[in-house]
Amino acid sequence: MDKIIITGKSELFGSIDVSGSKNAALPILASSILTEEDLIVSNLPLLDDIRNMKKLLLEYGVSIIKKNEQTIFNSKELLNIEADYDIVRKMRASILILGPLLSRLKRAKISLPGGCAIGTRPIDFHLHGLSRLGAKFTIENGFVKAEAPNGLIGNNINLPFPSVGATENILMSAVLAKGETIINNAAKEPEIIDLAKCLKSMGSKIAGEGTEKIKINGVKKLTKAYHKIMSDRIVAGTYVIAAMILNKEFIINNVDPSYLTSLICLLKSMGGNIEINGDSIIIKPSLQLKGAKIETAPYPGFPTDLQAQVMTLMSVVNGNSEIKENIFENRFMHVSELNRLGASIKVKKDTAYIKGNREFKGAQVMASDLRASVSLVLAALSAKGKTVINRVYHLDRGYEKIEKTLGNQGPNIKREKK
Ligand code: EPZ
Repeated sequence: MDKIIITGKSELFGSIDVSGSKNAALPILASSILTEEDLIVSNLPLLDDIRNMKKLLLEYGVSIIKKNEQTIFNSKELLNIEADYDIVRKMRASILILGPLLSRLKRAKISLPGGCAIGTRPIDFHLHGLSRLGAKFTIENGFVKAEAPNGLIGNNINLPFPSVGATENILMSAVLAKGETIINNAAKEPEIIDLAKCLKSMGSKIAGEGTEKIKINGVKKLTKAYHKIMSDRIVAGTYVIAAMILNKEFIINNVDPSYLTSLICLLKSMGGNIEINGDSIIIKPSLQLKGAKIETAPYPGFPTDLQAQVMTLMSVVNGNSEIKENIFENRFMHVSELNRLGASIKVKKDTAYIKGNREFKGAQVMASDLRASVSLVLAALSAKGKTVINRVYHLDRGYEKIEKTLGNQGPNIKREKK
C-alpha cells in the first residue's frame, strides 16, 4: 500500500486548475446504460472510483473508448449479469447502476454495497423510490434482485431525507418510465443538476433539478449525447482550505464559486481574505483567523465532504470551534489521527470540540476514508517535520495524484510506492 510523505512546514504558491467532479461523474457514467447510443463525456477525473465504475460498466458489456480528451460509452450490447462483488464492495456508488439497469433490462441483480468507514450506508431510500415506480425487490445472500417485468411507471415519490444517491437513482429510472414522476424532498446538490443536464442532452424531459421538487416526464428512448463533467467543488474547497491553513496567497481555478457559498461565508466569518474572480477563487494571507461553530447539512448547507478539512483549519486558528455532523453517523475517523499530529479535539456524540492555537508536528498516521485522509494531508502541510500517511488508496479515490498537484506548488510531498 502506497504512503505519502510530507515534510513541513510547507510553502504554497501559484495556482491549481480543479479537475472534473467525482460525484457528478459517477452517476453520469451509470446513466450511459440508459441510452443505446453513444454518451461522449469530457473532463472525466483520473480517479480510482472512476476506474472502478468503468470496470463495472465493462462487466455489463458497455463499450468504453477513449478518444483524446473524450471517453465514449455505448451500452447497446448490455448484458444482464451479476455485478462483481469485489468492485461493488470497494465503491458504494455502484448502487447507481441499479436504476438504469432496471430501466433498460427490466431486471437487475447487484450485490448490496455494504457500509464503509463513515457509516452503514443503507439503500432503503433507493429501494423505496424504485418500488414506487413499480420495481419488486428481493434481498438474499447479500444481493438485491430487482424486477419490473412491465417496465417502470411514473409516480409520486416522497423521500424521507434528501439523499443524493437515492435522488440520482430515482431520477435516472424515471426518465424512461411511462408517464410523470415527481420526486419530493429531492437532494439539491450541484451534482444532481449536472446529471439532469446530461440526461436532458440525451432527450429526457426534466424540470426542477436543484430544487426539492423534480418533475420527470418519461420518454420511450434516449439519444446520443455529449457532456462535460462539472468541476469538483469538494476538491476546490479542499485547496481553498489548504491555502487558509498555510496562510499563503493561492489561486484555485476552474471552479464555480457559487457552489461553495457555505464554505466561503464560513471562512470570511472566521476572518479569511477571499476574493472571487469569475471561475477562480483567490486566497490572500489573513491577519488572524478565529474559531467558529458549524454543522453539516444537505446542500446548500455546509457540506459533510468538507467537514474533515475545515476541522484541520480550526485546529490552527485563534480560538476554539465546534462541528456537528448531521449527515453520517461515523464521520469523525480523522479526529484520532489529527490528535496524533498535535490537534486537541474531543468528540461527544455527533459533535467535535476543537481547540485552536495548536501547532501540528509530523508523525505516522493512517488514512481511514477519502475526506479524512485529505484532512491529514492538510495537517501535514502545516506540521513541522516529517509526516507519513499510510493507506493512501483512500486518497486516490477522490484526489488526482495529489503529490503532483501539490508538489508543483511548493510543498515537499512524495509518494512511496509499496
Ligand atoms: C453522496 O453519498 C456522496 N457520494 C458523498 O460523498 C456525500 O458525502 C453524500 O452524498 C452527502 O452529500 C457520491 O455522490 C458518490 P446520501 P450518498 O444518500 O448518496 C443515509 C465523498 O467523500 N441514507 O445523501 O451515499 C446515509 O446513510 C462521498 O465523495 C439512508 O439512510 O449520500 C447518510 O447518513 C462520501 N438510506 C445520509 O442518508 C439511503 O437509502 C446521506 O446519504 C440512502 C442514504
